[in-house]
Amino acid sequence: MAMLLQARRILTQTLPRRNSNSSQAFVKLLGSASRGLHDNVPGSKLFDPNATSGKVITCNAAVVRGPKQPFLMETIRVDPPRKMEVRIKILYTSICHTDLSAWKGENEAQRAYPRILGHEAVGLVESVGEGVTDLKAGDHVIPIFNGECGHCPYCTNKTTNLCQTYRVNPFKSVMENDGKCRFSTMNGEPIFHFLNTSTFTEYSVLDSACAVKIDPNAPLKKMSLLSCGVSTGVGAAWNAANVQAGSSVAIFGLGALGLAASEGARARGASKIIGVDINPEKFNKGKEMGMTDFVNPKDSSKPVHQRIREMNSGGVDYSIECAGNVEVLREAFLSTHDVSHY
Ligand SMILES: NC(=O)c1ccc[n+]([C@@H]2O[C@H](COP(=O)([O-])OP(=O)(O)OC[C@H]3O[C@@H](n4cnc5c(N)ncnc54)[C@H](O)[C@@H]3O)[C@@H](O)[C@H]2O)c1
Ligand SMILES: [Zn+2]
Ligand SMILES: [Zn+2]
Repeated sequence: MAMLLQARRILTQTLPRRNSNSSQAFVKLLGSASRGLHDNVPGSKLFDPNATSGKVITCNAAVVRGPKQPFLMETIRVDPPRKMEVRIKILYTSICHTDLSAWKGENEAQRAYPRILGHEAVGLVESVGEGVTDLKAGDHVIPIFNGECGHCPYCTNKTTNLCQTYRVNPFKSVMENDGKCRFSTMNGEPIFHFLNTSTFTEYSVLDSACAVKIDPNAPLKKMSLLSCGVSTGVGAAWNAANVQAGSSVAIFGLGALGLAASEGARARGASKIIGVDINPEKFNKGKEMGMTDFVNPKDSSKPVHQRIREMNSGGVDYSIECAGNVEVLREAFLSTHDVSHY
């Protein structure tokens, strides 16, 4: 997973931040645009910033009150954005496995409840706090959990964009500004934030460093996936692994991340892409994303890395682990041949 995080930031590094052209390459990668509920509806029809700006908004949110507890639809209060923050009307949000891990409370030190999870989304800026000059009400944005202040030693370093202040931090549950929450229940109980984003709500408050302006013509319904899954997966192949034309790639775990990694490898011209998953139903989707071969670990008692080495004369050039499992990571590593990058 560490590699994937790096992949995500290297991918964002290749794209100019807050540039309305930044999503165009991804729009192509995502294929033909199907239209969603909110597409073609002007922002002014979805909300009236003049009516809400500077005021507390009351809206619905899916709140989790403990590990593996049901998501409860609650009426909550969302404070106005403070200095260098933005308030966003969330139009679409999707689920990543990282939300599920947080919901289960797998890492006890990262638990904080009640909490609003979710980090993949797309929305419209409702209002901006003091000092925000590059975003305005009505802008189409995607939240990003790995924000960029733009001026710290990391943001100004060409080899990384892991911002010193707004880097992804699963332990963080409050706003950077004042260590407080912008969400609360109708009784005034604070509700914690998640991964710099919190998107399972109709309105969210983010540090402006964690919102990226996108092309207003991009299909909103699909842009949500750019917040995490597609960027991370495509970036793992395209940037972190730097897959070369004609090479061989093995991808372990064919969820959102693995399928996007396949798309990244295909786009870079890989000639062989081997998908590995314990769920054979994933293979059909894998074919659509450029995979040429499949291995189901359950089909044989032989370790997967041995099967891959046999399939591809000693191993693959690149191997990308997208299941989030240390044992799978070991198999992925052993599947590469001696001169591989990964
Ligand atoms: N930036 C990041 O670092 C980043 C971003 C997104 C997701 N993640 C992590 O990446 C992982 C995958 O995320 P996702 O949203 O694609 O998950 P997902 O649940 O959609 O997909 C996981 C896939 O792995 C498969 N799988 C499970 N065990 C396997 C095994 N032993 N061998 C082969 N395949 C196996 C599942 O069948 C499934 O298809 C999660 O751990 C998530 O937390 C990291
Ligand atoms: Zn994610
Ligand atoms: Zn920074």
